[in-house]
Amino acid sequence: MHRASAAILFVLLSNAAVPRSVWDGVYTKQQAGRGQSAYREACLKCHGENLMGGEGAPALAGDEFLHHWNGKTAGELFELIRKTMPSEDPGSLSRRQYADVVAYILSVNEFPGGEKELESETESLNDIRIEARR
Ligand code: HEC
Repeated sequence: MHRASAAILFVLLSNAAVPRSVWDGVYTKQQAGRGQSAYREACLKCHGENLMGGEGAPALAGDEFLHHWNGKTAGELFELIRKTMPSEDPGSLSRRQYADVVAYILSVNEFPGGEKELESETESLNDIRIEARR
């Protein structure tokens, strides 16, 4: 294929729903900062400082968490949180706040930030694979 048309094809493809992973910079630092505030208000009392877990609630960062979520998608994580958390009042945050909290969880798990915020539509989040290792 001619090089220019290959480049155009690439641009077209990258606008479609190309599968991404959490290593591709899928959230911004600023968004993770907002997520941290939401986390402090709605999640910290059970999941602990720095997502390390607490009495009766699992850690949301570290090997065990990543092992559990490896191969799943950001959409699955988002939906689980949106439908079941905070456990005493599920669904009490906005979709955007839940997306911010997922961004915060990604940042604490040391996935890199990027230029674009994590979306709050489940469909596009389903394209982002969680991979414990690059
Ligand atoms: C009142 C305590 C409590 C609060 C508040 C709470 N959680 Fe949880 N969370 C739990 C418990 C208990 C579990 C384990 C549930 C189970 O295993 O069935 C859990 C499980 C989870 C899981 C699944 C972990 C895994 O590895 O599968 C995620 C993700 C999660 N919570 C995120 C959050 C987020 C984000 C918030 C804030 C919006 C939050 N939780 C608020 C108690 C809480």
